[in-house]
Amino acid sequence: MNPVPIRAAIAGTGSYLPEKILTNDDLSKMVDTSDEWIYPRTGIRGRHIAAPGENTSDMAAEAGRRALAAAGAAPEDIDLLVMATISGDKPLPATACLVQEKLGLVNATAFDVLAACSGFLYALDVARQYVRSGAARKVLVVGAEKMSAITDWQDRTTCILFGDGAGAAVVQPAEGGSENGILATCTGTDGSLWPLLNIEAGGSALPASPETLAARRGFVRMDGHTIFKYAVRNMAGIAARAVKEAGLSTSDIDWIVPHQANMRIIQAVAKSMDAPMEKVVANIERTGNTTAASIPVALDEAVRDGRIRPGHNVLFVAFGAGLTWAAGVVRWGL
Ligand code: ACO
Repeated sequence: MNPVPIRAAIAGTGSYLPEKILTNDDLSKMVDTSDEWIYPRTGIRGRHIAAPGENTSDMAAEAGRRALAAAGAAPEDIDLLVMATISGDKPLPATACLVQEKLGLVNATAFDVLAACSGFLYALDVARQYVRSGAARKVLVVGAEKMSAITDWQDRTTCILFGDGAGAAVVQPAEGGSENGILATCTGTDGSLWPLLNIEAGGSALPASPETLAARRGFVRMDGHTIFKYAVRNMAGIAARAVKEAGLSTSDIDWIVPHQANMRIIQAVAKSMDAPMEKVVANIERTGNTTAASIPVALDEAVRDGRIRPGHNVLFVAFGAGLTWAAGVVRWGL
């Protein structure tokens, strides 16, 4: 353990969205729904869907490749890969191992973090702690999901929400004397609320069987109405905590990059911070909820189109199954 913590910073980002787009009108031909119902309640008009045979690890590897290029890092420079997903390729091994092979991260230890929509921020927190302590020098953090594989396309209360994609960031020590870097990461969990959002079958408690398949118990189930209330309350609370821990006030925040679950949740969180929607990075209309990929995809888009620039204070905030929630504040740049 280093006596003086090393400040971690984000050196580069990357993202990947599959080519195929499923619109609300397409969905209205699959279940009893409509664009008129979906868009006003969620802010979603379309979502990307992985091609047949295109797996979470493929999307993760592409996003990771782009993040490495943006950071000017070689695969062999990476000494840790932390991967956030709830839709890994297989129950075993960790999808991080498959991504490590695909990217040739020959010097990296690789493991998965399962914290649903909070997953990328949990993984960022892990990466930050490794860099702070000196245990790792260059960490690739990836959030990737093939939600289309674990979504029940007959359940209109959930299938309208989710999409596929991947996002990634390279975390490493900030440059000497720099004021930039990750200023705060905060995480929270309330395991008593797990029944609100879960997949019943397919784990060791209820292995997949012909009965579970017939009863469609291997897909995401959610009490959306109750989740909505917890999402707003917990995201607002942890966002305020992260801003305080960063030594800032809400007016110092230039950009909020929230988890893209529902536009109305995003608006409520911005309101709780007295932040205008002009400060919010939102791509939910095109992507839907990509769970662990949502924040790194939105972040990468805002970095690449020049909205987020060095010196900007960026707040991340997320909420998901577990229940879990998390936030982080980054002064952009190395
Ligand atoms: N099309 C048409 N009607 C629908 C649809 C649909 N797609 N879905 C539900 N309805 C109907 C319901 O059956 C219900 O009808 P009823 O009143 O006759 O029973 C009515 O619409 C209202 O349903 P609600 O569920 O109360 O609708 P609500 O306004 O809460 O919106 C939504 C639902 C969009 C899911 C919202 O609750 C939400 O976004 N919740 C948060 C989800 C979330 O953030 N999850 C966490 C992240 S996910 C993760 O971690 C993996």
